[in-house]
Order: sequence, then C-alpha cells, then structure tokens
Amino acid sequence: MVDRVVFTDVGPRDGLQNQPKILTVDERLSLIQAIAASGVLNIEVGSFVSPKAVPAMAGTDQLVAGLPTDDGIHYSALIPNRKGYELARDAGTRTVNMVLYASEGMAQKNVKMSIAEAEEATRQILTMAADDGVEVVAAIATAFCCPFDGPTDPGVVRETVARFIDSGIEQLVLADTIGAANPKEVRSLTADLVAEHGADRIGCHFHDTRAMGIANVFAALESGVYRFDGSIAGLGGCPFAPGASGNVASEDVIMMLEQMGVDTGIDLDALLRASDLADQLTGTAPGGRAKAWLGPWLEKQKSQ
Ligand code: COA
Ligand code: ZN
Repeated sequence: MVDRVVFTDVGPRDGLQNQPKILTVDERLSLIQAIAASGVLNIEVGSFVSPKAVPAMAGTDQLVAGLPTDDGIHYSALIPNRKGYELARDAGTRTVNMVLYASEGMAQKNVKMSIAEAEEATRQILTMAADDGVEVVAAIATAFCCPFDGPTDPGVVRETVARFIDSGIEQLVLADTIGAANPKEVRSLTADLVAEHGADRIGCHFHDTRAMGIANVFAALESGVYRFDGSIAGLGGCPFAPGASGNVASEDVIMMLEQMGVDTGIDLDALLRASDLADQLTGTAPGGRAKAWLGPWLEKQKSQ
C-alpha cells in the first residue's frame, strides 16, 4: 500500500460541466480558490471545448487568466482536440489533459471522432506541446465500460497505455466514465499497468454511480496506484455519457486516506468548506459522506 498520494480535484471541470446551473467565471474561480485553500495541489479548472457543446465551460480562457501563477498549485484544463490545445496554450494553461478513448461509441458521441482520429490528434498535440513547453497528460475514457459499446476489453486499455507511453506521454489516467467498474477488475488492470509501466505513469478517475467509487480507489491503491482524481462534493458527470453520475467525492477519498494513515497534505475541515461552497453555488451537489460524519466532529474539536 502506498504512503502518499497525488490528488487532483476535477470538480471545477468534470463537476461543473454537467450542472443545470451555469456558474459565472468568478463563481468558478471562488470554488477553485476554496479547493486550493484546503491544500489540494492539483486542480482541473475547466475545459477548452465548444461552448455550444458544453456551455458551462465557456470562458475557461478568462478563468485561466485569473489564476495565480506562483502559488505552487498545478492547474490543468481538459482539451478534446487540436483547437482546444491551441486555445488552452494561448490562454496560458501549463498542463492540458487530452482525452483518448477505449471505445468507438464514446469517441463518436463525445468528440465526433474515431479512436484513431483522437489518437492522431493527441500525437500532433504532443509535438506542438513539446515546442510550446506545455505538459500533456491524457485520460482514457471508458477504460472499464462504455455506455454505448458495453464492457471494455482490458487488453485495449493496456495497448493504448503502452502506445502513448512510447509516444512520450508522462501520465495516463484510467477514467471510469460512467462509474461501471468493479474493484476486482480495477485491481487486475491497475496491477498489470503498474507492473508494466510503474506507478508514476498511471492515475485513476472514478465515478460513484453505483456506490463503488471508494472501493475502486482502494482496489487501485492496493495495486500501488497513487494518483487519484476526485470531485469536490461529488459533483460530476459527462453530458455525453448517459448514466454517468458524480465523481467519487474528494472529501470521502481524502477522509479514507487520512484515516488509513496516508498523508495527503489536505486539511479536511477546509475541504468540507469547499464542499459547502460547491453546494451553495450549484444547488445540486450530492456532497460526500464525509460531511455528515466529520462535520459535527470537527465542530466539536473547534469548540474545545
Ligand atoms: N473549443 C472551442 N470551440 C471548438 C473546439 C474547441 N476545442 N473545437 C471545435 N470548436 C468549434 C469550431 O470552431 C466550430 O465553431 P463554429 O460552429 O463557430 O464554426 C464548432 O466548434 C464545430 O466544430 P467541429 O470541428 O465541426 O466540431 P464538432 O461539431 O465535430 O464538435 C467538438 C466536436 C469536440 C468541438 C465538440 O463535440 C466538443 O467540444 N465536445 C466536448 C466534449 C466534452 O467536453 N465532453 C466532456 C468531457 S470528456
Ligand atoms: Zn469523469
């Protein structure tokens, strides 16, 4: 079992992209600041996608311009294609997260491309980014199951990871886009990938659609994975993946890790305040389980 984690809060992107209420850039910035104040060192702040496709992510260029550059926090943004890369780079984004696919159905629905076209775009982006000094990481969507094509063959994911590590990508994040993975398959695939490429290269991104999110985090931890995504207050879901609900809540992941003795460097009290803010801003945040458990306990500690 690992003794440290690298945690990324994707709430400002994965969480907000699918909410009925569209937040202003200032509201999005206030949520990012609240997450940062808790000690989270990696935050996915938004995406450079078509504003017609995802209206909630319009203005990510202004948002990036409003972020501090000297606070030691790693702010990243998701991109779906080459145009997204150019917009992200021109806005000053230092890390972009490109999406690869383990199923044709999801690639078509999300970005109207084939798997091969998305991979070709990624290779072009890697070449441009090397010249521009931009870091590229990639997520593999539908790494366990696709809402259109069904269960994913783990061999396909392993081949995709191997191809892109050979192409020079630093990190690949396995995304359980619709929250359909189970801990046994997570354990098996992550163990293979960690054995093949080392834990530095592999991250996990789970949605909690079927209450298996935390179990899946634990299964990946057991394989040696230490890079995890979560979303503040469990916000999340992909507008183009029917059935996807929120990500595993950041506060639940951090509570579990801290209670198991893994030092996350994150202040749970401050994280719960960020979770409250996510709820106030959106009105729809499910909120992690940690709030009901830790909230009263932390209040009691403060009054002593
Ligand atoms: N950012 C902003 N605008 C973009 C863009 C990007 N990354 N990529 C394309 N566009 C614009 C084009 O300029 C064009 O604009 P116009 O209508 O004003 O001329 C329009 O979007 C359509 O471009 P086209 O290349 O024909 O794209 P498309 O209709 O095939 O749509 C995507 C493809 C990728 C642009 C669109 O599906 C998208 O943004 N999807 C986002 C998916 C997403 O965010 N999923 C959740 C996270 S995984
Ligand atoms: Zn997601």
